[in-house]
Amino acid sequence: AARPRVLSGIQPTADSFHLGNYLGALRQWVAMQDTHDAFYCVVDLHAITMAHDPALLRRRTRVAAAQLFAIGIDPERSTLFVQSHVPEHAELAWVLGCITGFGEASRMTQFKDKSAKEGTSAASIGLFTYPILQAADILLYQADQVPVGEDQRQHLELTRTLAQRFNHRFGETFVTPEAYIPKATAKITDLQEPTAKMSKSSSSPQGILDLLDDPGPLRKKVMRAVTDTGTEIVADEQNKPGVTNLLRIYSALTDTPIPDLERRYEGQGYGTLKKDLAQSVLDTFTPIRERTEKLLADEAQLDRLLARGAERASQVARRTMENVRDRVGF
Ligand code: ADP
Ligand code: NA
Repeated sequence: AARPRVLSGIQPTADSFHLGNYLGALRQWVAMQDTHDAFYCVVDLHAITMAHDPALLRRRTRVAAAQLFAIGIDPERSTLFVQSHVPEHAELAWVLGCITGFGEASRMTQFKDKSAKEGTSAASIGLFTYPILQAADILLYQADQVPVGEDQRQHLELTRTLAQRFNHRFGETFVTPEAYIPKATAKITDLQEPTAKMSKSSSSPQGILDLLDDPGPLRKKVMRAVTDTGTEIVADEQNKPGVTNLLRIYSALTDTPIPDLERRYEGQGYGTLKKDLAQSVLDTFTPIRERTEKLLADEAQLDRLLARGAERASQVARRTMENVRDRVGF
């Protein structure tokens, strides 16, 4: 049987992906290549829903793509492309927007969260219709599965509703995608504020481990991670969120169950754990950073890889869109 098709996207909204992105999403992207027909997309159209700088966006889109190849997305096996290179995303989003209710779109909680700062009237219509563009990203490729975390469940539900509604109104056109729940990786938290998620919007860069950080800063950040009172190295979310986060990261990077680590570090201090963890972060990140730098240095090669990805994506997107246009009456 053919492998299920999976689609996943990530925004180019930071100078580097961080450890949370890597363990929470991107590492699964690499693994899914063995089980799925994978389409991976750097979603630059989504990245302009908030105020942005054009030169920075252009740069970050390339760095994001280079990092994805560097972590092991294989252009021979998967289709990795930049969203804006395939104009059908915007065209399908328009069509889907025309079958989405205003009330239905207004119920999306991510818009409420993201627009809360400036107030909903200052937020762009693009931010409001973000989930519809996301639905287009998925339906364009007839994806069977979409990896989703908790925060994306509502958007996938809307995508499924729109697929079924379109099929019902205009005739069978779209695959209705299912949620794919990859092997659970718990949330990685901020090294300086271990009860908050590690995020590009963290208050201090010291709390985030970026894939493109140099070895010196990486080591320093791990060694200076906030730990907890007491000396015991045990996972205890409530009372020891700092040590628990370090154990979780070390466990994920070395594929070692946390109880094994607790046994290994019995009677040892936080410093020993941090030293070992820093080394394993370096072992993982250094080759990724080096491959990323190499790809960015060879502009023509990165252009070729992205053109090839866009061409493969376009073949599918064009076919879907021809069908959609025909169904809708264009
Ligand atoms: P950020 O939180 O830095 O803004 P995004 O929201 O762009 O990152 O997340 C991109 C992907 O990385 C999503 O799949 C998200 O679930 C995952 N991710 C981001 N931060 C973490 C984290 N701290 N722990 C686990 N996964 C994370
Ligand atoms: Na986020």
